[in-house]
Amino acid sequence: MKLAIIGTGYVGLTTGTCLAELGHEVICVDNDPVKLEKLKSNKSPIFEPGLEELIAKNTAAGNLVFTDDISNTVKNSEVIFICVNTPPKPDGQADLKYVEAVAREISQSLNSDYKVIVDKSTVPVRTAEKVKETLLRYSDKNAKFDVVSNPEFLKEGTAVIDTLEPDRIVIGVDNEESKAVMLKVYKPLIDKSPAPVKIVSVRSAELIKHGANTFLATKISFANLIAEACEVAGADALEVLEAIGLDDRIGSKFLNPGVGFGGSCFPKDISAFKKTLEVLGIDPSLVSAIELINEHATERFVKKIEKQLWVLDGKTIGILGLAFKPNTDDIRNAPALKIISKLVADGAKIKAYDPEAMENTKKVFPNLEYCPDPYEVSKGSEALIVCTEWPEFKKLDLQQIKSLMKTPIIFDGRNIFNPSDASKNGFKYFGIGR
Ligand SMILES: NC(=O)c1ccc[n+]([C@@H]2O[C@H](COP(=O)([O-])OP(=O)(O)OC[C@H]3O[C@@H](n4cnc5c(N)ncnc54)[C@H](O)[C@@H]3O)[C@@H](O)[C@H]2O)c1
Repeated sequence: MKLAIIGTGYVGLTTGTCLAELGHEVICVDNDPVKLEKLKSNKSPIFEPGLEELIAKNTAAGNLVFTDDISNTVKNSEVIFICVNTPPKPDGQADLKYVEAVAREISQSLNSDYKVIVDKSTVPVRTAEKVKETLLRYSDKNAKFDVVSNPEFLKEGTAVIDTLEPDRIVIGVDNEESKAVMLKVYKPLIDKSPAPVKIVSVRSAELIKHGANTFLATKISFANLIAEACEVAGADALEVLEAIGLDDRIGSKFLNPGVGFGGSCFPKDISAFKKTLEVLGIDPSLVSAIELINEHATERFVKKIEKQLWVLDGKTIGILGLAFKPNTDDIRNAPALKIISKLVADGAKIKAYDPEAMENTKKVFPNLEYCPDPYEVSKGSEALIVCTEWPEFKKLDLQQIKSLMKTPIIFDGRNIFNPSDASKNGFKYFGIGR
C-alpha cells in the first residue's frame, strides 16, 4: 500500500520505517529541514536502538522516502498518518495547533480518490471529529475520506521492537470501509504477530490512549507514595512493592519508586486527560493527585540533597543520567533537568554524564561540565546523583568512584545500587524509600 506519515519524530519515524519494513511504500513528511537533511543521508535524528539500520535498509530498497512536500505525498497515498507533536498549553490542555495545521494542509490535496486519514498523535477524545470538520471545511466538495484513530503505544528506547511486536493494535473506526483499509495496512503485522487487534469506535480509541498512560502514571505515583511512607515509617519500599506486585491483579511493572516520571508523554497526557475530564464535567481529583505526588517526588529528592550537603554554593555535584529514562536521548520533562535547575540556582557546580542525552542537554544547559564517563564525573565531586537507570551505571566500580570523589555520598534517585554494597564501599547512601 502507499502510505504517508506526516511528522517524523519518535512516533512518525519509527512507524513509517517499520511500515516500510513490513512491505508498504512509505513517504515520510516533515517540515524541519535539519531533520530532513539527516534523514536523506540515512542518519536518524533521534537515538532509538535498531532504527537507523532499518532506515538505511528500507531507503536503499526504495520503499522509504523523506520529503517536505505534503501536497504530492497526500495525492499519492491511500492512507495518511498524522504523527505530529501535541504539546501542552500553559493550562495543561493539549495544544492541537500542529494537528489542525496538518489537517488544513491535507485538505488542499484531497479529491474524489478515497483516502483514510489516521490520527496517531495522542489527542483528547473527539479530536478526530474536529479533524474531520477541518478537512470538510477546507477541502474540495468532492473529497472522499474517513478519519480514524490508531493510537501509538511504543516506548522510547524499545520503539522499533514495540512497533514490530506490539502488545495490541487499537484501531478506532466508525465504518466498514475505513476498517477494511486499516486492517489491510496492518495485515503483514497481524499475520505474523499474536497481538490482539481491538477494533473500537473512534472515541474509544482516543480514550484508550489517555486512559493507558494515566493508569501507568498512577502506578508510578503509587510507588512513590509507598516509598515516602516507608522512609518515614522505617520500612523498605522495594520489599513492600515487590510483594504488592506479586498479586497478579496488580503486577510488578511500573511499581518502581524514583525521582518522578518525566518524558514527552506522561506529564502532558495526564494534564490533557485532566482537562478532558473537567470539560466532560467529571471530577479529576485522581489525576490531580498523580500529578501532585509526581512533583513532590522530585522536590523531596532535592530536599534530601540539600539537607545532607547543607550549603550548595560552590560545591561540585556529579549527575549520572540526563535522559528521562534509559535507552533514549529524549530529555523532554526529564527529572534530571529539574534537579539540575534547582542545584544550579543554589550555586552548585555541576559535572554530568549521559550515554546519549548530552547533546540535547547542552542546548538547555550549555554551561555544565559534560564528562566522557561516570569516573570523570566523580573526580572532585562532593556527591553523586543518579537520575537515570542506564544499565552501565549498575556495573560501576564503586571503589574507584569513591577514590575519585571529594566526599563519598550517593543520592540514588533510581535505586540502582544496593544500599549495603554502597555502605561497605564507604559511601553515605540515600536511595528512595529505603
Ligand atoms: N514519543 C513517544 O514515546 C510517544 C509514544 C506514543 C505516542 N506519542 C504521541 O505521538 C505524537 C508525536 O510524538 P513524538 O514524540 O513523535 O513527537 P516529536 O516532537 O518527536 O515529532 C513530531 C514531528 O512532527 C513534525 N511536524 C510538526 N508539524 C508539522 C507539519 N505541519 N508538517 C510536517 N511535520 C510537522 C516535527 O517537525 C517533528 O519532527 C504526540 O502526540 C505524542 O504524544 C509519543
